[in-house]
Amino acid sequence: MEAINTSLDLLNRNTYDREDVVSFYNEANTLLPAERAILRELTPGIANKKILDIGVGGGRTTPYLLDISDDYTAIDYSEEMAKLTAAKYPNAKVLQMDATNMAAFDDSSFDLVLFSYNGLDSMTHESRIKIISEVFRVLKPGGRFLFSSHNRDFHNFNKLPWRWNVKWNLKFVIFVLHCLYHLPKHYKMKKHEVFADDYAIVNDGDHRFSLLLYYVTIEKQIDQLSKIGFSNVIAHDMQGKPVKSDPSSHWFHYVAQK
Ligand SMILES: C[S@@+](CC[C@H](N)C(=O)[O-])C[C@H]1O[C@@H](n2cnc3c(N)ncnc32)[C@H](O)[C@@H]1O
Repeated sequence: MEAINTSLDLLNRNTYDREDVVSFYNEANTLLPAERAILRELTPGIANKKILDIGVGGGRTTPYLLDISDDYTAIDYSEEMAKLTAAKYPNAKVLQMDATNMAAFDDSSFDLVLFSYNGLDSMTHESRIKIISEVFRVLKPGGRFLFSSHNRDFHNFNKLPWRWNVKWNLKFVIFVLHCLYHLPKHYKMKKHEVFADDYAIVNDGDHRFSLLLYYVTIEKQIDQLSKIGFSNVIAHDMQGKPVKSDPSSHWFHYVAQK
């Protein structure tokens, strides 16, 4: 199976290889409230079972998942990210691998697959579908896929910060000035944006306007997962509460079952 490489995929991949971005993920070390709540609920079913952590970055989730199971494998397509996490957690099996091609893993071999912090959003629609299909293949029947993804119904979707409905303070003014400084880059990136019926891929400011990120509604995300074969899909808000829709949530955490 060959990995897909389009200019959008390459743009995002180059961003994740950047020294400042690797260092950003190196410093991230706590679970998000929703991840904590969801993993607490899943733990009885996955304790000491096989876990795959896709797009591990700087290993933010690694110690928490190693606490749940020693049978833990992490992958990242960025050599620097994979090296960093392997050095930080010598007990973990960490591989450099592109998730669009996980032929190295057998069918039906993992109990939990994770792709955290919207990692699944940093690629083309075609690569996303390929990865979700690969996740479905490597999961055991009944296994769970936990990931997060940006919300296309978010009230600030595709708006620059000065159009956000927030209270201005000094910190926000500094943030707006930072965005203004990077505005030329943003307009350069805009030519890669995609607006489709089911999803949008936009340049939304992360890592100094360097990423193109996928946004999808809960309804369309559930359709996408169901077409590949997943069921029992539940979207959770930032606190881990199951939701059907929520325009105040920038992204959602999904759990889907094979
Ligand atoms: C937003 S970061 C999240 C890092 C980490 N999971 C966390 O929660 O802190 C996304 C990570 O996914 C990796 N990634 C993106 N696309 C990937 C792919 N197709 N295959 C493997 N890794 C990928 C990036 O290199 C990056 O490290």
